[in-house]
Amino acid sequence: MNLKPQFQVPTNSSSLNIFSFQNNALYAESVPVMDLMAQYGSPLYVYSRTEIERNWQQFDRAFGEHPHLICYAVKANSNIAVLNVLAKLGSGFDIVSIGELERVIAAGGIPSRCVFSGVAKSKAEIQKALEIGVYCFNVESEGELERIQSVAQAAGVVASISIRVNPDVDAKTHPYISTGLKENKFGVDVDTALSLYHKADQSEYLKICGLDYHIGSQITDVLPFIEALDKTLELISKLQSEGVKVSHLDLGGGIGISYKDEQTINISDYIQSILSRAGDLKILLEPGRAIVGNAGIFVTQVEYLKRNSIKSFAIVDGAMNDLMRPSLYGAYHKAVVVKESPDGINDTWDLVGPVCETGDFLAKDRELKLNQGDYIAMMSAGAYGFVLSSNYNTRPRVAEVMVAGNRHALVRRREEAKSLFENEFFLDEETN
Ligand code: LLP
Repeated sequence: MNLKPQFQVPTNSSSLNIFSFQNNALYAESVPVMDLMAQYGSPLYVYSRTEIERNWQQFDRAFGEHPHLICYAVKANSNIAVLNVLAKLGSGFDIVSIGELERVIAAGGIPSRCVFSGVAKSKAEIQKALEIGVYCFNVESEGELERIQSVAQAAGVVASISIRVNPDVDAKTHPYISTGLKENKFGVDVDTALSLYHKADQSEYLKICGLDYHIGSQITDVLPFIEALDKTLELISKLQSEGVKVSHLDLGGGIGISYKDEQTINISDYIQSILSRAGDLKILLEPGRAIVGNAGIFVTQVEYLKRNSIKSFAIVDGAMNDLMRPSLYGAYHKAVVVKESPDGINDTWDLVGPVCETGDFLAKDRELKLNQGDYIAMMSAGAYGFVLSSNYNTRPRVAEVMVAGNRHALVRRREEAKSLFENEFFLDEETN
């Protein structure tokens, strides 16, 4: 596997402003975004390697010498160039499918630093993960514990497990991405966890290594995290007093980023409060968004300006299939004009895409100076951007580019329409 592109780290990277305006034009690190659009076409995802590295290191450094593993949540952005940057830093990975594990391996990541999460691991996935040798399975139910035990027994190996506890705390985030309440499908409650640990302790094919939880995503208040931490530490001491040893605690991901003007969690303070409570427990975290969210933008071009007596629409070439978060969660992404043209029109615009749905919008009511042909960057699109994209309306998925200092490279080729139906067959061919 070719792990290119390789870049030089700019020596003054800590002082770099990742996406900034210079001479009224947007730059990604030291590269004018206009140049990227000219070279790679529109629409386009652009990632900053420096920002990804900085964000990961912020987590890692805050732990100092305390035993820990930062397991980047692959689902947030699974491009192998992104995974490769993190693998080189020594990152662990949080995976939810064998496909993600294969990506991690292709990107140079180490399987024994992977935690396998997800509510419905199939038998084949468990077999494969045991064969490859992941760090542990984050177990979500009694049925799954039994399945892992029987697959391990059949293979004659021991599976390391952690039980995902649902601590029943309100993460105060969007209901679609809140996971730590009893009404959510994730994990097991405290009492069930106790009985599952005792059950696992009896099995010679299961090795208890940890306890984990993940209470939701885009959380901007530290209190739900602390509440969940205190509840689970109590459970760990109870287990210990009953003779069950748990050697790591995995607090999941969920740390929010600033999309608009949200005050977010101070990562060092959060980690200090974990360390002040955790004794000598090894700590795992599974951040996704906090590592890649602000390291990426989605750039789209204005095709048409269309105004009527009550509305002004900028119809752009990017759509809900490319950046789904606004349509799916009503999510806000800042929109900035990459380089304003002097004859643009100042107005309050809805940015809408070419897809045939009223729900196809990237932003609403934005005051921008726009002209046909202008490029608009949707900021903070590095997490859950490209990975949530689809081929709806037979739209090829867009290209992805990574920038490092003054260098840039294509890290995913733009799809072509013909590749979208190459796995489809006529009825007669298929039955032949
Ligand atoms: N660990 C587990 C078990 C998870 O389910 C998730 C995210 C993470 C870690 C990483 O969470 P993060 O640090 O990125 O918040 N599509 C939604 C977000 C879905 C999050 C799913 N789970 C969005 O665009 O906001």
